[in-house]
Amino acid sequence: MKFYIATDHAGYALKAYVKEYVQSKGHEIVDLGPDSADRVDYPDYAKKCANAVVSDEGSFGILICGTGIGISIAANKVTGIRAALCHDAYTAEMTRAHNNANILAFGERIVGKGVIESMIDAFCDTPFEGGRHAGRVNKIDSCSMGANLG
Ligand code: RB5
Repeated sequence: MKFYIATDHAGYALKAYVKEYVQSKGHEIVDLGPDSADRVDYPDYAKKCANAVVSDEGSFGILICGTGIGISIAANKVTGIRAALCHDAYTAEMTRAHNNANILAFGERIVGKGVIESMIDAFCDTPFEGGRHAGRVNKIDSCSMGANLG
């Protein structure tokens, strides 16, 4: 699998570790910054990663901020992105199986390295189930293309 990764300053300390873990599993990972722990705005890095994922068919993203909340909210504004804020292996597994998530987001202040590894494993090892979930995912995508659900 090919991943793009980006963080803000509050997720920066984990970035090198996550990159190394993803590579150790045989995946490719492209670092979109930042290059230091200097204060940055998480929407800028969410947008970099989200744009890269939608421009490179079949690729995935990893986004890290303090909580994972702001960076996932921002990424989900980009059409075609389904960024999932996960807290454990179960949420990472289910968001691939049911939501066809293309970005895994989490918070550096929330989860430890063991949980992160289990989330990455679950995210990578779980295919989208399709079937009844496909229509629902299409409805999610139509929201970001300007359609209302109701
Ligand atoms: C930065 O202090 C923090 O607000 C950010 O990393 C993130 O947690 C926002 O949702």
